Amino acid sequence: MEDQAEKLREIMKRKKDGAVKSAHTGKSPVKPSEKARIITVTSGKGGVGKTNLSVNMALAFARLGKKVVVMDADLGLANVNVMLNMIPKYNLYHVIKKQKTIREILVETEYGISIVAGASGFSQIANMGEEDRRDFISELDSLSNADIIIIDTSAGVSSNVLDFIAAADDAVIITTPEPTAITDAYGIIKIIATEYDSLNMGLKLVVNRAKGAAQAKSVADRMINIAGQFLNLKVDYLGFIYDDSTVQHAVLRQKPFMVVDPKCKASNCVQHIVERMDRNKPIESAGFGAMFKRLFKSNANENAV
Ligand SMILES: Nc1ncnc2c1ncn2[C@@H]1O[C@H](COP(=O)(O)OP(=O)(O)O)[C@@H](O)[C@H]1O
Ligand SMILES: [Mg+2]
Repeated sequence: MEDQAEKLREIMKRKKDGAVKSAHTGKSPVKPSEKARIITVTSGKGGVGKTNLSVNMALAFARLGKKVVVMDADLGLANVNVMLNMIPKYNLYHVIKKQKTIREILVETEYGISIVAGASGFSQIANMGEEDRRDFISELDSLSNADIIIIDTSAGVSSNVLDFIAAADDAVIITTPEPTAITDAYGIIKIIATEYDSLNMGLKLVVNRAKGAAQAKSVADRMINIAGQFLNLKVDYLGFIYDDSTVQHAVLRQKPFMVVDPKCKASNCVQHIVERMDRNKPIESAGFGAMFKRLFKSNANENAV
């Protein structure tokens, strides 16, 4: 643990010197002084809309002129590339195996966003050692010439999901109005609250597949109140997405719904969510520095138990 903390301190020092290098390649990122906003999308339950939100949110940010990367970190059911009808030659499997760097496997899509493809059915990241996992996370810094990095994670709690949440400027938790999804979303919020110094963590809630604004708001209010009351944790309501059959049609056509119908109910909602996020930029202390602090704190916690 001492070593890990020392290593992170070293990364921070190099970052300050403006010369942070990829842990695996020693290559400097293109623009080391600039920092990407990292948005992690996660949920308690599977199938609630993480991948659809990640990809379509990326498109909405791209329309605001941002350079966006979507990283498919759902290593159980990787499907960002499926949703975009692409079969990239390399994926995160090659990064985890240290055969490629994240930058090397980055591919452009026809939609003005880039993706880092996941490795479906590959659970090795869950079995990676602590150090390898954090090396992998620190490689995200090599994508710092992007404005926004959206990380689509797997559902539920695993060490790698928690690391991606710790690395985020904004952790977006998505649920549907279904009781099981709400319970599981609350479960993940509770774990985040106990694992990390979450006061500075921008936890944000999206209610997907809602019948309307009122239903979504009541789901969000309930969760936000419980998190505040029992976990002393601030969760912001980011918005909702209508249950909209265009989403299913788009998934079948392997195109983002924002492309299939930019004016459909779901597209409008995502546009609103992204505009709200763009207005509320992360605080100065967030990003890589905050990530360091969180990882460091989590080490301290591990030492304490
Ligand atoms: N807003 C929505 N309206 C209608 N169907 C949706 C919506 N969001 C998701 N779905 C359905 O749920 C399925 C799973 O969504 P997906 O984004 O793959 O979830 P996850 O990544 O959380 O597993 C989609 O294929 C689609 O059929
Ligand atoms: Mg998914």
